[in-house]
Amino acid sequence: MRGKMGRIAGAGILAAVCVLGLPGCGKEQPEDSGKNYIGVAYYNQSDTFLNELLDSFRSQLKEMQGEDTETVVMIRDAAGSQRTQDDQVKELISAGCDVLCVNLVDRADPSEIIDLAREHEVPIIFFNREPVAEDLMQWDGLYYVGAEAEQSGYMQGELAADLIKSDSRTDRNGDGKIQYVVLEGELGHQDAIIRTETVVEALTDQGIELEKLSYQIANWNRAQAENRMEQLIGQYGSQIELVLANNDDMALGALDAYEKSNNTEAAFPVFFGIDGTKAGLEAVVDSRLAGTVYNDKEGQAGAMAQIAVALLTGRGMEEIEFQKDRCVYLPYEKVTKENVDAFLMRGL
Ligand code: BGC
Ligand code: CA
Repeated sequence: MRGKMGRIAGAGILAAVCVLGLPGCGKEQPEDSGKNYIGVAYYNQSDTFLNELLDSFRSQLKEMQGEDTETVVMIRDAAGSQRTQDDQVKELISAGCDVLCVNLVDRADPSEIIDLAREHEVPIIFFNREPVAEDLMQWDGLYYVGAEAEQSGYMQGELAADLIKSDSRTDRNGDGKIQYVVLEGELGHQDAIIRTETVVEALTDQGIELEKLSYQIANWNRAQAENRMEQLIGQYGSQIELVLANNDDMALGALDAYEKSNNTEAAFPVFFGIDGTKAGLEAVVDSRLAGTVYNDKEGQAGAMAQIAVALLTGRGMEEIEFQKDRCVYLPYEKVTKENVDAFLMRGL
């Protein structure tokens, strides 16, 4: 995907950035200005992975800049409310946005947004929170960019199985089973449900005997995960041998709880995350996380930028390799201490 970026570099796009709350945002007069406007609506500005993804989106758009066209990116945070997001989309459309990138709050409830966009003929690139196929099929101006959740959970399970097989100390009480807990993302999010299922499936496929202690929802959030883990430590003491978190922020929150507890490091379980955020990768470097699975934010941001540019210019859409008609799924990759340096370079 990144290789193709050069080819669209001549498309004449100058990306400027307009962040929510800055003076002037939403007051533009796009019709008169000759600029392009991309509206981005995302579910919550406290999300680490999405903030890193959007930084990459802005910088990749900027890389495509030329002299004659300017693209302004207007970003809106729904703070967890679908109703707020519906209003923001309305506002972005009336501000004259030519393309929208939407990270739904409730992925099962995009109909109001789809109706609005369709009525005004503003195409939408949904990202990261995947609408169901029937909704995406409603109009050919709808796209999706993300990744296959099955793959991430399965890879996380394989990473954990490799460690369990190669280091007998992982089974700390030596009972032949791995006592584990799962920290889950939001209820109803495709990545939470599926990662939780496939991580266990992979471990079982690898012949690892598991004993489930607890599954806790922590909504992708580091502080919530710390809180849940604190309770689990209270309940299970040093019995927990493995922490499987649906994302890095929650794996790090679990670690925070252990670091604040009176357990010695020898009594810590091993932790696995998913994402490869900056903090997640650094924790792999320090061996605080045993591994993570790279959720290719640069690839996803690049695909979003590429589709947006194709929609704005009417050129380059045929170069994009879509699956299921108008979807792009970027592959996940396993990250351990051995290969983490290569991933740290990507965010730069
Ligand atoms: C990421 C999480 C993120 C969530 C937001 C997932 O794909 O792994 O870190 O919080 O998307 O929708
Ligand atoms: Ca054990």
